[in-house]
Formats: sequence, structure tokens, C-alpha cells
Amino acid sequence: MKTFWMVLMIAVVCHTDLRAQVKNIIVATDETSLVLTVSGDGRLRQRYLGRKLLNEADYNAVPQGAEVYLTHGMEDYYEPALHVNHADGNPSTLLTYVSHRTATLANGVTETVIMLTDTVYKTEVELHYVAYARENVFKAWTKITNRESKPVVLEKYASSMLHFNYGEYYLSQFNGDWADEVNLSEQRLSFGKKILDTKLGTRANMFVSPFFQLAFNAPAQEESGTVLTGTLGWTGNFRFTFEETHSGSLRVISGINPYASQYTLAKGASFVTPEFIFTLSYAGTGQAGRNLHDWARLHQLKDGQGTRMTLLNNWESTYFGFNEEKLIGLIAEAKELGVDMFLLDDGWFANKYPRSSDRQGLGDWEETKDKLPNGIGRLTEEARKQGVKFGLWIEPEMVNPKSELYEKHKDWVITLPNRKEYYYRNQLVLDLSNPKVQDYVYSVVDGLMTKYPDIAFFKWDCNSPITNIYSKYEGKEHQSHLYIDYVHGLYNVLERIRAKYPDLPMMLCSGGGGRSDYKALEYFTEFWPSDNTDPVERLFIQWGFSQVFPAKAQCAHVTTWNRSASIKFRTDVAMMGKLGFDIKFEDMKSNEQAFCKQAIREYNRLKSVILDGDRYGLVSPYSGNHTATMYAAKSGDKAVLFSFDIFPRPSDKTYNVCLRGLDAQRRYVVKEVNRMGQKDRVVGTYSGDFLMNVGLSVFTHSKMNSRVFEIVAE
Ligand code: DGJ
Repeated sequence: MKTFWMVLMIAVVCHTDLRAQVKNIIVATDETSLVLTVSGDGRLRQRYLGRKLLNEADYNAVPQGAEVYLTHGMEDYYEPALHVNHADGNPSTLLTYVSHRTATLANGVTETVIMLTDTVYKTEVELHYVAYARENVFKAWTKITNRESKPVVLEKYASSMLHFNYGEYYLSQFNGDWADEVNLSEQRLSFGKKILDTKLGTRANMFVSPFFQLAFNAPAQEESGTVLTGTLGWTGNFRFTFEETHSGSLRVISGINPYASQYTLAKGASFVTPEFIFTLSYAGTGQAGRNLHDWARLHQLKDGQGTRMTLLNNWESTYFGFNEEKLIGLIAEAKELGVDMFLLDDGWFANKYPRSSDRQGLGDWEETKDKLPNGIGRLTEEARKQGVKFGLWIEPEMVNPKSELYEKHKDWVITLPNRKEYYYRNQLVLDLSNPKVQDYVYSVVDGLMTKYPDIAFFKWDCNSPITNIYSKYEGKEHQSHLYIDYVHGLYNVLERIRAKYPDLPMMLCSGGGGRSDYKALEYFTEFWPSDNTDPVERLFIQWGFSQVFPAKAQCAHVTTWNRSASIKFRTDVAMMGKLGFDIKFEDMKSNEQAFCKQAIREYNRLKSVILDGDRYGLVSPYSGNHTATMYAAKSGDKAVLFSFDIFPRPSDKTYNVCLRGLDAQRRYVVKEVNRMGQKDRVVGTYSGDFLMNVGLSVFTHSKMNSRVFEIVAE
């Protein structure tokens, strides 16, 4: 990403040192402006954040507003963005404007950097704002530099602080647990604080996802109303604070969770916060999601413009119980099914303590001789013969105490002195703050790739939060750096992997959706939203993640979870994401096998629209017994609509669903496709105008019923 910016930087447009000359600093996308201004006392204030005004002069009529990056210890009485303990013990910071500059980058992107300083303590704060004009997305982060002659301690160090002044605020959060991720719930905020945070370290998002929606004046709607969707690019502890003050204003503070994370900055050192990514939509949550999807595919997600491979995974069908012969059989099934890749999951490694269960072996990354006497090479060879790619599961940040790695390198493990160890999934986390451990984790991937260059994909798992938190490497002085240095260590490893293997696709997994953030997705092409593949649950989980992430980033596999759902229902749900299978032929009747093969062909035909089109959440699963989502190609030529009847009641009305994203002037042929044991059914030919205003009757009274419609312009 850094190189990208450097290469694309074209011109520095404006620079000024004189406070008196500064009127408004406008950071704008095509639709939204963030307007900052310097008041007479030299403080930087947020004058405006909202729909871009036609006339820039009109911003001057808006009151100067609250201080942009409020600090601890001065006149403010609410939660600050920054709290620094200076070398002499003074805990206060007062920031005044020094200068700003705006650079125009390529593709309608601008970066504005505003320099603030504490004139007494010389603490420097750079506020960075990148505005993606076309996608209407902003990134905000902060660089804090210690210019004192001794170290200072950062207590709080937000990425961004935003201020709002509306009558009502409605916050939507996405929380849950393992196999129950991203449940959407909305609440009206009132005086005081609401905090969304995590302290889990590695499997950071197991209980709550690092994103939210904030609707103003009325509850969030799919297609109307002003809403801010925000997310933090940080693969670790995050915190969002929403604080409504006595006057009814709201501040939103986003960043690393400072819990147990005081950070000492040496003389001259800088701390760069993670990026807070946000968009404002004036047409509801649906548009906010589309803004983020467009932005992610173009600017953030690894290989965001590329397509994705369908796959057959063996986890659900074998768990740890496989051998070479069984896997060779599954590779043949992958070929017969018609998927692009076979993905070998957990259980292929370790010899002293073979990985026959999750109790042992993690850390010892050589093939188990009993299971795979001819190594991974025999499997990649077989895959090559069959014409499918080969992918491999790893969990390189972790160790089972019952492993050779633990026996050799206990000093590499995050574990407390003088305490009995306790385990999450029988494992511990390696100390990635230590560069030697970073080298080791890098060598897991590099070693496998060097030995088996045919490996075409990795699934990178992470099943434990950081437990027993203590690092030998950080020593007495810097224990409170561990949560943060761990994440930086992880990024160092991922940078090295990306530099050496730039085209290697990887799936981010963390015991399901325990890791799902946009910084990690710079290095991963996709993520695993949940171990729960019950299609009914997946309708909700995929709805939740789709508020922020595009379909191409969300892996969705057909499994045997919820056998009361037909194979068609299960497959139709999975086709709304990056389609995969985790099921063996013997678990399917012959007509089910035939259907899956047909569905893969259909998916390959439709996937450019699903993965790269605009997503419209037409009917939310949270609204009742039916749900519908459509994906429309940006050209307006083609769309795909998925409809589901979950547990409809006889009294349910089967109302028409109005489509979106079509060209009102054109005519479209609507066909029901991907039917099981039946040919495609032509529904009719309609104008885009009709489809978007009158709509189609797509719901039924049948339980667990699903339909896929293809809509093609004449
Ligand atoms: C948790 C993942 O979410 C599963 O898909 C599977 O890879 C297991 N770990 C393997 O241990």
C-alpha cells in the first residue's frame, strides 16, 4: 500500500504555516465534506461533516464546532482522543494548529495532513485524512511524535474523533460468539457512553466485530436516511466510544483499545495509529455498504479486482481422520464436482505428537508420516494430475503445549511467569512481538512454498485469543506494549509473505469470524465468516458482514449442517458469497451431487455479477420469514436475485419485491435458474422501470424454499 501511495503521489497542492491565513480545511469526496477550521485560539475545530454543500462559502455560516482531537487534562469534560503523560509527569496536552497540506493522488484520492503541536511539550500530532472521492469513503489516522528529551507515555491514542449534532442517534452493533457471529441489533443512544470493544488480542472479533452503523434522527433504513458506517483496520483490540454529552452532541472515538496498553514513546519516536475507515450515506445502510464494497475492491482488499476460486475443503467431512488415500479420493471428488481447488484443513502435521486432535502437534509443521507417507508433494502432484489447485491450512501463530516447538522454545510463547497455564482450545499464542518468532512464523509459509511451490492457497487460522498475557521479549519495561507489538509483528510477517508471494491468495480464518478487519484484508483475499454453515444462520451472518464487506471477501461453504435444508437451499445461500463445498460425495444422494455440479457451473456463469456487482439487501432476514438480496452489474446489463422463504406462516403476505440497480429504460428477461431437477423457467420480460417499481412476486409459503433469478437486459 505504501508503495502504491508513493508511486501515485502527484502533487502537493497547498501548504501554509500561518494560522491567520487558514479558513477552512476541506476534506471532501464527491458527496461528503469534512470541514475543519482553526479558531482564534489556534485550536483545530470540526466545523462540518455531512452532505457536500454546493457553495464552499456556505461552510463559513456553520459554527466553528468542537475541537477535532480533544486531549486529556484541558478544558473538556468528556472522553478525550489523546492522553499523554509527559516526561515531567504533566498529564495534559494542548494542541494548536501548525500547518496542513493536501496531496492529490491518483483515481480521485486526496490525502490531507494537518500538523498540530503542544507548544510547551512539543508533542506533535499529525492528523491524516484520505478521501476517496468516487467511493465516498474516508480513512483517518494519527501520528503522534515525542519531541521531548525523555520518553513519554501514551495512555490514549485514538485514530479518529468525529463530532455530530443531531436530535437522535441510533447505533447498530454486530456481536455474538463462536458460530453465532455478527448479530445485528440497534439501540438509541442517550446521555453517557456506549463502548464497543474487545480485549481478546488475536481472535479479537469473536464477541464483537470492528464495525458499526450510526443513523441520525431516525433508526437505520436500508434505502433512506443518513447513516455513517465505520470500521477500524486493526487485527487486534479495538475500541469505539460513542459519548453523548449534556448538550446532546455526540463524539465517536475510534482506535486501538488502550486497555492494558500504555505505550511508551522514546525521544523522537512516533506512534502511528491504525486507520479508521468510514462512509456517510444519505440513502441508508445499503448505499453505505456499496460505498465500502467499491472502495475495498479498488483500494484495500488483496486482489480486490480479481476473481475467486471455488473449492472443496475436507474439514467438515473428515476432521482429523484422514490419510493419503482418503485425500486422493477427495481430490478426485473436487475434480468431479468441478471446483477450482482442493483445500486440505487441520490435521496433516506433527510427528512426535501427531495432530490427531486439537490437543497436540500445533507448531510442528512437518507432515505426519503415518498419514502422509509421501508428504504434501504427493497431494499437489495428484491435484495437478486432476487439474485442480491445492490449498493448505496452517495456524502458524499458535502452539500446543504438547509439541516439539513448545519443548524447544518456551521463551517464544506468551505465558505468565509464576502461574499455572490455562488454555483456550488446548493451545497458546506465540509471541509475535519477538522478531525471532516473526522469522519463525514467516518460515512456516516460506518453507512450505519453497518445498511445495504448487501450493496455490493458504487458509490461515487463529483459534485462540491471547491468554496468560506476558511476553519474555518485552521484559519488565514494556509488558503493556504486547497487545500492540503483537499486531505489528503479525503485519511484519504478512508484509514479508506478500512481498515474496504477491499473487498467493489466502483465507483469513479465526475459529470462524474471529478476525475480519480491513487491515488484515490487505494481505488476505477472503475471510471465513463463521464455522456455522447452517444456511438459515448463514443468511443472518452474511447479511451482517455484507454491511461492510463485499461478497468476494466472504467464504461461504455448503456443508451438512442443518440437513433439514435441501441441498439447493444450502447451495443458494452459499452462492451469495465466495462459493465452496465442505461435504463428501457419500453424504449426498446422486441427484444432490448432480445439483451441486450444476450449481458450480451456474455460479461460474454468474459470479462476476455476485462478486463485483452492487449489492442490494431487498428484504432483511431480520424482518421476518423471508429474505431477498440482489447483485446488479454496474453496467446495468445483468443482475442476480436470491430469494428465501425460511419458516413462512400461512398468513404471511407474499408481497412483491422491488428490484434495484437496473436501467429503468431497458427491458430485461427474468429467468429462474439453478432449479433442482428442472429446467430454467422464464418468468417474463419486463422493463427495468416495472421491475424497480412494481417488482416481482418471489416469495412463497413453502418452508426452507429458495430461488435464484437471473435478470438479463435484452
Ligand atoms: C477453525 C476453523 O474455523 C475451521 O474451519 C477449521 O479450520 C478448524 N479451525 C480446524 O482446526
